[in-house]
Amino acid sequence: MVKVVKLSRCLTACSAVIFGAYVLSSSVPANAADEVKPAEPAAATTPPPATTPPADESPGDAAARRAAEAAKAIADRKITEVTNKPLAEVVAANPVGTMRNPYTDNATAIEEGKKLYFSYSCNGCHGGGGGGGMCPPLTNDIFVYGSDDDVLFRLIALGTADLQKTYSMKRKGSEGVVGPMPGYTEIIKNDDELWKIIAFIRTVYKGSRRNW
Ligand code: HEC
Repeated sequence: MVKVVKLSRCLTACSAVIFGAYVLSSSVPANAADEVKPAEPAAATTPPPATTPPADESPGDAAARRAAEAAKAIADRKITEVTNKPLAEVVAANPVGTMRNPYTDNATAIEEGKKLYFSYSCNGCHGGGGGGGMCPPLTNDIFVYGSDDDVLFRLIALGTADLQKTYSMKRKGSEGVVGPMPGYTEIIKNDDELWKIIAFIRTVYKGSRRNW
């Protein structure tokens, strides 16, 4: 039991250190040949500080605290209502950083989402189990633009070139593949379908922190 606690603490600390190191490295100018841009906090999704940090807080503790606060802000979001409207209308109607999947952990929706994932050929690029292949894996801790439902909904709807343009979002992480993903506004019928697909994607995730 003690070991488990230690291990999970270690994981938290390690990810905090990695996060901290990443934030520090973001002040270094990016290599022009490297398409990956440094992280920039998205104004709409950055939560206000929940607590006053202690004066002697270490950088690692500060990063862990910020990560915990960001996770809490996501967990506190209201569940988004399914409207059966086209994706473009749904992304326009909901302010950035507010959407949350109504179908997370819903077994029936996940089953349907899995079928939709294959019928829209997401597997062609991301693999049948979401493990990658030609394109970024959906199974690991790296989410290029962020891991929450709001980001994934907009990413899949708009595609990543438009996601970058519309919301000034930049890649915060990078996977083996760095290239744009096509948008699905004209292809996926409505929000009901896309939320189901996202609910399925969550089931292939094998990372260490559930942050959505
Ligand atoms: C033509 C190949 C292709 C298809 C088809 C495709 N994607 Fe992608 N997807 C990509 C690429 C490339 C990226 C990385 C984009 C970037 O870095 O800007 C990506 C990124 C993603 C991400 C973010 C992953 C991360 O680690 O941050 C999700 C989620 C995703 N796609 C879901 C889907 C879903 C769901 C479908 C089907 C509706 C789909 N993709 C179809 C190529 C594709």
